[in-house]
Amino acid sequence: MKFTAHNILLDNGEKTMGDSVVLLGESAVWQSILKSLDLFLPGTREERSKMRVVDLGCLEGGYAVEFAKLGFDTLGIEAREENIQNCNYVKDNLNLPNLNFVRDDVRNMSNYGKFDIVLCYGLLYHLDDPTDFLKIVSSCTTRLLFLNTHFAPEFDIRYELEPLNTYFIAPLQKRTRILLFSQNYRLSRITKVNGYRGRWMKEWSRNSNKATIEKLLWASYNNHRSFWLCKKDLTQALHDANFDNVFEQFDYTGDLMPHNYTFFYNRTMFVGVKN
Ligand SMILES: C[S@@+](CC[C@H](N)C(=O)[O-])C[C@H]1O[C@@H](n2cnc3c(N)ncnc32)[C@H](O)[C@@H]1O
Repeated sequence: MKFTAHNILLDNGEKTMGDSVVLLGESAVWQSILKSLDLFLPGTREERSKMRVVDLGCLEGGYAVEFAKLGFDTLGIEAREENIQNCNYVKDNLNLPNLNFVRDDVRNMSNYGKFDIVLCYGLLYHLDDPTDFLKIVSSCTTRLLFLNTHFAPEFDIRYELEPLNTYFIAPLQKRTRILLFSQNYRLSRITKVNGYRGRWMKEWSRNSNKATIEKLLWASYNNHRSFWLCKKDLTQALHDANFDNVFEQFDYTGDLMPHNYTFFYNRTMFVGVKN
């Protein structure tokens, strides 16, 4: 089995990505989730065992594993066959009966009931309908949402030059890093979807076949392009979806990049809390 991102310690001592990669459970990203969890929803193991968690677009299941280890009744939802096989391998090699995975599109999450905690990491920016999806998420969340996502910059001259950027500037910046003040994602010009501002990002060619899409293990699944909301619009969408309190959490960048991570990668972590 080949793991691409989640280094998970299994019961037999095996690490899914070996010794050279930090264990997910020891990463700054997980530690920031844990800290926020203890802050907003402190509880004993017994209390937690009565709560449900869903990990959306769970990839290899690493975050779901950590929630299950805390005692939560945990479900990981993942669209891709190869990823879900890795999740099930992890499950088979851990004594965690409260850990489960299902292969499905996250847009169907309401078929699995309500959840106290929703983890939406590295997923929202792979959807073409993020504001509709946040409404689905909210309708399934009773307490907490952890959302780690890219957002679209409001101003970036490169994206105003759409084809010139896509075919000339972006490849040049990739090779040389010239004037690379922030990552160049080849986004579109600013546009509105459902009244919210953002930019489109091409995930794969519209004509890609199933086999090709299956191989893109980290990409979108049922949509060939995704819509990245501007940060202001994203916070507004979270409020509009009935998250009463929206916080931004910065601690997760610890072992990724100490300075400037949010600006350079147009990425942040939100915590949505329901009253
Ligand atoms: C960038 S990876 C992030 C994985 C993981 N959440 C993390 O933060 O490490 C995106 C994941 O979402 C999955 N995914 C993308 N679109 C999906 C969809 N519509 N339904 C279910 N899973 C999806 C991908 O297969 C991939 O595993």
